[in-house]
Amino acid sequence: MRKPIVAANWKMNKPIGEAIELAAEVKRGLAGYDGAEVVLCPPFTALKSVGDLLRYSGVKLGAQNMHWAEGGAYTGEVSASMLVDLGCEFVILGHSERRVHCAETNEDVQRKLKLALKKNLTPIVCVGESEEQRAEGRAEEVVQEQLEGSLGDLGEELERAVLAYEPVWAIGTGRAATPDEAQAAHAFVRKVMRARAGESVAESIRILYGGSVKPSNARELFQLPDVDGGLIGGASLDPSAYLEILNAV
Ligand code: PGA
Repeated sequence: MRKPIVAANWKMNKPIGEAIELAAEVKRGLAGYDGAEVVLCPPFTALKSVGDLLRYSGVKLGAQNMHWAEGGAYTGEVSASMLVDLGCEFVILGHSERRVHCAETNEDVQRKLKLALKKNLTPIVCVGESEEQRAEGRAEEVVQEQLEGSLGDLGEELERAVLAYEPVWAIGTGRAATPDEAQAAHAFVRKVMRARAGESVAESIRILYGGSVKPSNARELFQLPDVDGGLIGGASLDPSAYLEILNAV
């Protein structure tokens, strides 16, 4: 049985004061909740405050990115060890916004992934095709290429990783994948994992869906056989919407 994960990606939102308020509301709303692993990923600047607030609550802390080097002369970057130091247990890697706006490559993602695993951070590795690629009938090809490039030579070690299928055309657009589209893509990702890492990893790895998840569509998406929770952007900034999504698991 795969325990679902519902992770909140706050992106470049929420100064410290607001981040603390939002995290506190989520924490209050989750007393006694056991439906999914809950992970909040605030911006770097709020990790410390939100982490302090979440300690011993069962709600986990994640970062939205990290650098691939262990440390050193990389001005403006944040290392895996620094995230661990702050109490992070998760890190989002290869989000499409980083691939598009920060020119992050599969190779970068692969280096980050290996370091995250080495530091005992649970990576959430994101893949997903653009609207144009889907229209050209290349969605699976693109997702496979991103998976192969981002996962490199890793096999059984991926047992500790989490994947997220996030079609770029669904992110922040209000237009989520239909249940059929999501299930087909997730089954495909699991098939790729089966070929790469074997049956046991393919069956145990959690594959999250991301892209316009809202209270109104969460239930139908989360009940799909190969969807193991979600990566929630916009709706996670509203505590009542995020709590409704969590209760849809
Ligand atoms: P969205 O973002 O829920 O706002 O579409 C999802 C994501 O980018 O992870």
